[in-house]
Amino acid sequence: MTGEALTIDRSALEQLAALLLERAGLKVTPDGYMGLRLALQARMPALGLDDAGEYVRRLKQLAGEHELRALLPLVTVGKTEFFRDARQFAAFENEVFPELLKHARRESRPVRLWSAGCATGEEPYSIAMVGLDRGALTQEVDCWATDLNPVAVENAARGRFAIRRLLGVSEPRLARYFTLTDGQYEVNPQLREMVRFEGHNLAAPLWPQVRPQSMDLIFCRNVIIYFDQPTILAVMERFYDSLRPGGWLFLGYSESLFRVPTRFEMVEVGGVFIYRRPVRRSAMAMPLPPLPGPTPAQQAPKPAERPTPKALPLVVGLQLPKSTVTPYVPRPSPVPGTGTPVQRLAEIVGLIERGDFPRALRHAHALCEAEPDDLAARITLGNVHALMGNIEEAREAYQAALQREPLSVEARLYLGIAAMQADEPEAARQEFTRALFLEPTLALGHYLLAQVHERRGDAEAARRSYRNAVNQRRGPPHTLLGHFPDLPTSNEAIAQAAQYRLAALSERP
Ligand SMILES: C[S@@+](CC[C@H](N)C(=O)[O-])C[C@H]1O[C@@H](n2cnc3c(N)ncnc32)[C@H](O)[C@@H]1O
Repeated sequence: MTGEALTIDRSALEQLAALLLERAGLKVTPDGYMGLRLALQARMPALGLDDAGEYVRRLKQLAGEHELRALLPLVTVGKTEFFRDARQFAAFENEVFPELLKHARRESRPVRLWSAGCATGEEPYSIAMVGLDRGALTQEVDCWATDLNPVAVENAARGRFAIRRLLGVSEPRLARYFTLTDGQYEVNPQLREMVRFEGHNLAAPLWPQVRPQSMDLIFCRNVIIYFDQPTILAVMERFYDSLRPGGWLFLGYSESLFRVPTRFEMVEVGGVFIYRRPVRRSAMAMPLPPLPGPTPAQQAPKPAERPTPKALPLVVGLQLPKSTVTPYVPRPSPVPGTGTPVQRLAEIVGLIERGDFPRALRHAHALCEAEPDDLAARITLGNVHALMGNIEEAREAYQAALQREPLSVEARLYLGIAAMQADEPEAARQEFTRALFLEPTLALGHYLLAQVHERRGDAEAARRSYRNAVNQRRGPPHTLLGHFPDLPTSNEAIAQAAQYRLAALSERP
């Protein structure tokens, strides 16, 4: 079934946008309908459907949850625009590209650039425009543009854009590089010559198309945000190998490699941070310096410096009667530190409930050592650390869980909670959003995301997420792996708390 054989009318797109808003808090404006259309073109054939109205009806049914999860990544990751992130493009245009061109000319070769995760082509065509503006000849720039989504690649190669998608392109560039044909702007042959489009999966273990040390610069922006930690590490290693010494890696605005041990160095160019393969190979792989974050005074104090918190103060409005909590309470082992993993976990839960965190920690460590693949044990270890205020150790435990199970909703959720404890609302927002991609009906995820929005002062987004939490009242129940006291999982309890917050928000002047 080809894209042309599908019926995708505007009313179906509107219904889909409304459904995404209701179920996952995703706001898709009419500007984003092209992205919805592309996602539908990818998903409808997989279900043997040719009518988008029928597809939306399926999504609305309870059984549509599974499909919604398949659709969500497609509709959230396709967003792109020309000259996205003006500051990065200014650094590229004014500082990085001229140097690369000079260098390549000395070696009588083209500048080799790669737009990895190019979506519908706006990024690589922007790169090519910069190249021509800076005096390069078409044959002096070789821009390889790749994406996992074949429909996006096909559209990118077609090089035709609706007028509204060219808002980021200045008038002189529009006149120089585009031709208006049948109500759409088409890229000129010059730009086409500079960009080669191809399907490519960054998460594949080998990239036979890429020669080692062949690239001068890689743009991979707003792509890795949806990858788990092991994939990010693997992709970064391969990027490193693909780049020449001194080659550049541009990541998206919110995608720092903070805490990702890579061999890249971070360089400030024109006020933005860019990663670079060092010119000389360093003897050891060094972690990157952290991006500017909270000052030491803002950081979570060490456990010795503060009393052990029993419950998370951040969960505003969720101090609920115990009866609303669905705790995980298997029978403990009769002899401490022995028995089946389930019994040992129950013992740790008992210690947590009694507030004996140091012993809970020892037992959780021992259980993780004995059962390295036990996800519940890893997550509970993280939770004990979080309860003791050891935020970094908690995060390590959750990351270890993610290495074993990259799609662990719990690990994402608790990473978000840890980020809130560390006063890092942006990181928390990302983690809760990821948890919700994996499990869009997770009421607690919507609730916590709403709290992050509140903390960031975004009342409208907070209301939307609280409404999403309320909407899950009759959604499927979820039992979370790993024990965290006083964290409710009952949809009804969370819906009530969300309603209180909604009322409080509407009362604010
Ligand atoms: C948000 S768009 C980013 C487009 C462009 N880089 C930008 O910043 O405007 C992310 C793109 O990454 C692509 N993508 C996601 N996973 C990928 C993978 N494993 N390999 C290659 N591309 C991938 C998606 O298909 C999507 O087109």
